[in-house]
Formats: sequence, structure tokens, C-alpha cells
Amino acid sequence: MRVYQTSDYQAMSRQAANIISAQIITKPNCVLGLATGSTPIGTYRQLIEWYKKGDLSFAEVHTVNLDEYVGLPGTHDQSYRYFMQTNLFDHVDVKPEWTNVPDGMAADAQAEGGRYDQVISGLGGIDLQLLGMGHNGHIGFNEPAEDFPLGTHRVDLTESTIQANKRFFASEADVPRQAITMGIKTIMQARRILVVVSGEDKADIVLKAFRGPVTPKVPASILQLHPDVTLVGDKAALSKLAAAGESVCG
Ligand code: F6R
Repeated sequence: MRVYQTSDYQAMSRQAANIISAQIITKPNCVLGLATGSTPIGTYRQLIEWYKKGDLSFAEVHTVNLDEYVGLPGTHDQSYRYFMQTNLFDHVDVKPEWTNVPDGMAADAQAEGGRYDQVISGLGGIDLQLLGMGHNGHIGFNEPAEDFPLGTHRVDLTESTIQANKRFFASEADVPRQAITMGIKTIMQARRILVVVSGEDKADIVLKAFRGPVTPKVPASILQLHPDVTLVGDKAALSKLAAAGESVCG
């Protein structure tokens, strides 16, 4: 694993965007796995800036997102499709039909997972998967569990996720109870993985995930077994990992 430590969120975003743009420049027709959440927003902003300056093009890129809520159409402002449109896709030259997000309105969410994995393998697999990480070590919607889920699948959201998300909805009753997420196998099959973390509140889980035992109780810990992981984090998020002796660049 390579670890880049940056001074703050903005520098973290620039470093992550650098790695993504290097991927696009070296393989213009690459497949990018993308994430939602607050951490990658600055990375997307930086990529948009470089696109507008003419330094970067997404014209040949395919994208596959990690996850989506069940029951929300892409027009809903809390859907992950909507997030991607407003935070990246609408501002760059990616072909709309080459962007993929699981269909939260599919009649059979479990079958949608199977279809989604076929889309990914039909594209030749993911070249670079961007990931954020939850406070309990979740990646995508793969929450702590007794075993590692495999392919893209439907999940019941945990009570703590529902509680954390309710601020974005008119009422708790409106919070989706299920999601479709890439599984651990789908994520681990990506050729390269880029994890972004920011803030002191992530320091404990970063240490646990990258220095603790590999266990489905900390889903991100499986990344220790991936041959090509880059972790980019600000000083605050990496403080405990660096204190534990992990060598960091930057
Ligand atoms: C996003 C996703 C989630 C987030 C994670 C961290 O598509 O699947 O796993 O990456 O919840 O979220 P933030 O970045 O908001 O801390």
C-alpha cells in the first residue's frame, strides 16, 4: 500500500484527483469506479477544474458507481445518481450512456446486482476504484458483518446508517431501508484502489482498517489483501496510522 499524507482536505482532494487524472491520461478509455459521500466532493471539483482548463477529457471513460438507494429514482436529490450528475457528470465530457449507477428503481434489486456485475465484467473490469470509508469501516454499503459479501447485491441498511441519513430527508420514514452495493469481491477485483479519508474522526478506523486484523467486522480491512491500494488522507485522518509506524509520503 502507498500512503500519501496531505496537509488538509483541499490538498487531499488535489492528490486524489492527480492519481485519477494520471489514470485517465495513461489509459483514456479506462473504467473508473466512483463513490459518493462527502470525502470525494473536492476530488470531483478538482477534476472538473482541470477538465475546464482543457487538461483532461472524460470522452472515452466509462464509469461505474459503487452503490445506490433502493426506491429512489435518479431524479431524487438524495439518490446517488443525482449526486454524481451534480458533482461530476454534468460538468465534464463523459458520455451520459457510459456512466453506470445501480438502478434503485429496478423491480428486482437482487437481480439488478447480477446485471450490474455483468456490466462491469463486460467493460473488462474496473481500472481504478475510488473509495471513501465509513466510521465503522464500511466500504460501499458493505457494513460490518460475519462474512464478506461477494458480488453486487441488495442490502438492508443498518439502524445507525438510517439514523445518520435521516437529516437529508423530510422525515425518517422517507429514508430508504435498502440499497444496492458492489460487494467486496466486485471491489477487490478492481485493478487499482484509491481510498480517500479526511478528518480526525476517521483516524481510529483508518488505523483499524489498515493495521488491524483482516475481518468482515471491519469491511475495509480486506483492502490489506489487495495488491495495489493507494490511501490518500489529510494529516488528521492519518495521524494514528502514522503514529503506529506506517510510512507515509508527502
Ligand atoms: C459512497 C459510499 C460510502 C462512503 C462512506 C464515507 O458511495 O459507498 O461507503 O464512501 O460512507 O462517506 P463520507 O465520505 O461522507 O465520509
